[in-house]
Amino acid sequence: MYNYIEATIHEIEFKVNGEETSMTIPANLTLVELLRQELRLTGTTEGCGVGVCGCCTVLIDNKVVASCLELAVNIDGKEVLTIEGLADTYQLSEFHPLQTSFREYEGFQCGYCTPGMLISSKALLDQNPDPSDEDIREFLSENICRCTGYDSIIMAVKSAAKEMNV
Ligand code: FES
Ligand code: FES
Repeated sequence: MYNYIEATIHEIEFKVNGEETSMTIPANLTLVELLRQELRLTGTTEGCGVGVCGCCTVLIDNKVVASCLELAVNIDGKEVLTIEGLADTYQLSEFHPLQTSFREYEGFQCGYCTPGMLISSKALLDQNPDPSDEDIREFLSENICRCTGYDSIIMAVKSAAKEMNV
């Protein structure tokens, strides 16, 4: 059967990790597909594909978004941050303090949830530079980790917050 949605082509312009980009894409391409398949930004992982696990979290204009649910056409004129751009958001460091503290506190095991967890944690610290354990649990409640039990993630986020507040 002829796929009318796929046949609709859009030209979009956007920024990803600070770089201006323009592309011609089919209307039904999701943002996670654009990032991973078209731009080869494979740091963003895809788990459930239906907006439940949080693996695919990115920021669009500083808002937390599940990139598996977002159509890529919707980023036209917007700015996307993925895990590949996280370190550059902090004082031109090699690693963002969240990356350093996740390593230090073993805030990951298999690592599949980690890019989304780090991006969500960045969004949290942007809004709340000194979050309580409860604040962190609540903010990260849409990022599922099957490995860590979350305590090490909470310690890592608190440690990064402390470092960033010095
Ligand atoms: S892959 Fe997007 S929320 Fe699970
Ligand atoms: S580290 Fe394995 S799912 Fe979180």
